[in-house]
Amino acid sequence: MNIAVFASGNGTNFEAIAKAIRRGYIKANLALLVCDNPAAFVIKRAKRLKIKSVLIDRNLFSTKNDFEKEIIRNLRKEKVSLIILAGFMRLLSPGFVALYRNKIINIHPAILPSFKGIDSIKKAYEYGCKVAGVTVHFVDEKTDHGPIILQEAVKIKTGMSLSGLERRIHRLEHKLYPLAVKLFVEGELKVRGRRVILLS
Ligand code: GAR
Repeated sequence: MNIAVFASGNGTNFEAIAKAIRRGYIKANLALLVCDNPAAFVIKRAKRLKIKSVLIDRNLFSTKNDFEKEIIRNLRKEKVSLIILAGFMRLLSPGFVALYRNKIINIHPAILPSFKGIDSIKKAYEYGCKVAGVTVHFVDEKTDHGPIILQEAVKIKTGMSLSGLERRIHRLEHKLYPLAVKLFVEGELKVRGRRVILLS
C-alpha cells in the first residue's frame, strides 16, 4: 500500500510514521510527503530520511480547487491509497474528502470533540482540565470531526507545566499514530456510521 503524509510544520509525526515503516512495524510504502509550507522543517526531515517530497504552496494557486487538483495529480502519480494528515493545517474540500472517503486519517492533540482547531494542548491546560489526550480519526468534511479510530488520555497532574504536558502528548502521538496506520494497512478497521470497529 502506498501512503502519503501531508504536513505543514515540524514533522515529528511524519518522522514517527516513517521510522515505523522503516523498521517493519507498518508494512507499507511511504511514497510521498506533501507539504504546503516552504518554511516547514518537515521538508528537511524528508530529505534526511530519503523520502520523496513535494512542496505545493497554496499561495501559488489562485483557487483551492487548483491547489487540490495539483495534490491529486501527485497522489495519482504515486498510486497513493492512504493519506495521513500530520499537522496539515488546511481544511480539505468536501470534493477531496469524497474522493478519498475513509482513506484520510488525522491526528489531533485533544480528546475530541473537545478543543478542536489550533493550540488545543494549551487550551486544555489553561482551561484547568484534569485530563488531556490524543485522538486519531478518519477525516470528514468538518474540522477535527470524523469517526474515531484511537483515543487515549493523559492526566494533567498538579504542578505539571504546559511544556511538560506537550511533551507527554507528543510522545503519546508518536505511539498512537503508527498503531492506527498499522491497523488500517492490515485491514483491521471497519467504519460503520460514526463508529470505527476494530476487527481483531
Ligand atoms: C501535532 O500535535 C498534531 O496533533 C497537531 O499538529 C501537531 C503537528 O506536530 N494537529 C492538529 O492540531 C490538527 N488539528 P508535528 O508537525 O511535529 O507532527
